[in-house]
Amino acid sequence: MNLKDKVVLVTGAGGGIGSAIVNRLIREGAVIVASDRSLDHLQDVIKTAERHHAKIYPLVADLAVKSDCDKLPQRAKEMGQKLDVLINNAGLMRRGNILDTTDEDWSLSMAVNVEAIFRLCRSAIRIMKSQGHGAIVNTASCWGIYPGPNHFAYCTTKAAIAAMTRCLGRDHAADGIRVNAVCPNEVNTPMLRTGFEIRGFDPAEAIGKLNKTVPLGHIAEPDEIADVIAFLASNESRYMCGALLEVNGGKPVY
Ligand SMILES: NC(=O)c1ccc[n+]([C@@H]2O[C@H](COP(=O)([O-])OP(=O)(O)OC[C@H]3O[C@@H](n4cnc5c(N)ncnc54)[C@H](O)[C@@H]3O)[C@@H](O)[C@H]2O)c1
Repeated sequence: MNLKDKVVLVTGAGGGIGSAIVNRLIREGAVIVASDRSLDHLQDVIKTAERHHAKIYPLVADLAVKSDCDKLPQRAKEMGQKLDVLINNAGLMRRGNILDTTDEDWSLSMAVNVEAIFRLCRSAIRIMKSQGHGAIVNTASCWGIYPGPNHFAYCTTKAAIAAMTRCLGRDHAADGIRVNAVCPNEVNTPMLRTGFEIRGFDPAEAIGKLNKTVPLGHIAEPDEIADVIAFLASNESRYMCGALLEVNGGKPVY
């Protein structure tokens, strides 16, 4: 994948998909700058990287805080001496229709899922433009393209990420910077499992049922998304700019 020695900043690196991205980057020989909202969130990926003698720099940042977002790419560059790739993976999901959506649900969803991506991309693109190259991979969602039911705030934020990706992919291709997004459908991570718990379902049982709704036979495992993200981050996707890549096992949103 040509990611060897590339400096890659990953947000939400301690989460379900984030950990799988870090595992994939370890296999690729990348220099990983792993960011999450606390060091506790990063302990497992740090240990895994150390076990494989991989280069990993942990960086704590709260993406609900504007100044943390603005500074993160520069901090990553200082640690890795350059910044080749930004993977905007962190995100949160607030559930419910518009009547269920509190002011706090709305403002936190917009802050972490939208404003953080704007600030991180802006800072990273300044650095990448001066380097003459770079790649950004955003995590949108199939639900940002075809909204699923009763996730009003979440779907709105993911649609914004899809739009930002298309704009940036077009605006910065001539700067040597490629911006693309992965759009997963359901993925077996804490985000999905806690949703079942909140609604009083046993996550394992609920995922078993959900698996039967997917033509390929199972909802995505995090590594099945991480592999696509690695592809978009790498030179293998060198002619792709502003793409929204749906990764859905053949299952449409309904
Ligand atoms: N799981 C799914 O079904 C699914 C489907 C489509 C898209 N996605 C997207 O994939 C991405 C990863 O989600 P996941 O499923 O691995 O969920 P997850 O909950 O396991 O991971 C999310 C990560 O984001 C981090 N994060 C949340 N708020 C933060 C903040 N304020 N500051 C810094 N970090 C913060 C969390 O600490 C966590 O590490 C998200 O953008 C999500 O919307 C997930």
